[in-house]
Amino acid sequence: MTAQLNPRGDVAVLVPAAGAGVRLGPGGPKALRLLSGESLLVHAVRRVAAAASVRLIVVAAPPAGVDAVRAQLAPVAPVVVVPGGVHRQESVASALAAVPPEIAIVLVHDAARALTPPEQIEAVAAAVRAGRPAVIPVLAVVDTIKEVDPDGYVRGTVDRSALRSVQTPQGFRHDVLAAAHAAAADPLTDDAGLAEKAGIPVTCVPGSELAMKITRPLDLVLAEALLRAPQDPARVRWPP
Ligand code: CTP
Ligand code: MG
Repeated sequence: MTAQLNPRGDVAVLVPAAGAGVRLGPGGPKALRLLSGESLLVHAVRRVAAAASVRLIVVAAPPAGVDAVRAQLAPVAPVVVVPGGVHRQESVASALAAVPPEIAIVLVHDAARALTPPEQIEAVAAAVRAGRPAVIPVLAVVDTIKEVDPDGYVRGTVDRSALRSVQTPQGFRHDVLAAAHAAAADPLTDDAGLAEKAGIPVTCVPGSELAMKITRPLDLVLAEALLRAPQDPARVRWPP
């Protein structure tokens, strides 16, 4: 059944899905790869559509797959689909151009974070609504981190307590994200990084292990196992 989005919602969610998925290995664009019989993109969009304040979803599709993505998402939720670009930042910029000015909050997500719970999407949006111009969901870093020189010699051990790994969706006031993208020079910077460069304070909310980025083959195995988990303690399946 197609989800209804909230016509009075104040949030647009951009879902870049145009990447090749090189690290996942052969098998086509990653967002269109299957997880329990549905594409990563379908899993991701279904969870975005379940977040109560979302009014608009814009997907940046692989340029050759725009029509296929439209057809695939039609039974899931109403979405706008635009062609993505060579770098993620270009895909985000194309999607951002489709957001009307009256939508105050824009979230930038990854199709690859296919199991991100709707609650995380709402939590990021709520922090922006409460007055934060730029918000990122984060997790503590679990491994010891070393700085290493090009010859493999350890230069030092980084203080892990000050480090966080960053997930999506990253949330912004619409005007802040638009200005940050307009000023963007470096295609390798994430959206929050663009805001940082523009001098915007970026704040954190707790992320979720379910919002892991499916990047390598093992991640796909783990995600499949999570979807099959009988207890479903963290409400991985959606709808529950
Ligand atoms: N993405 C995009 N346009 C690009 C590159 C990436 O829309 N030109 C999207 C991907 O589809 C993904 C998200 O950005 O949903 C995060 O990127 P990543 O996990 O790196 O995905 P891929 O680029 O597809 O994977 P890889 O880097 O292994 O090729
Ligand atoms: Mg990539």
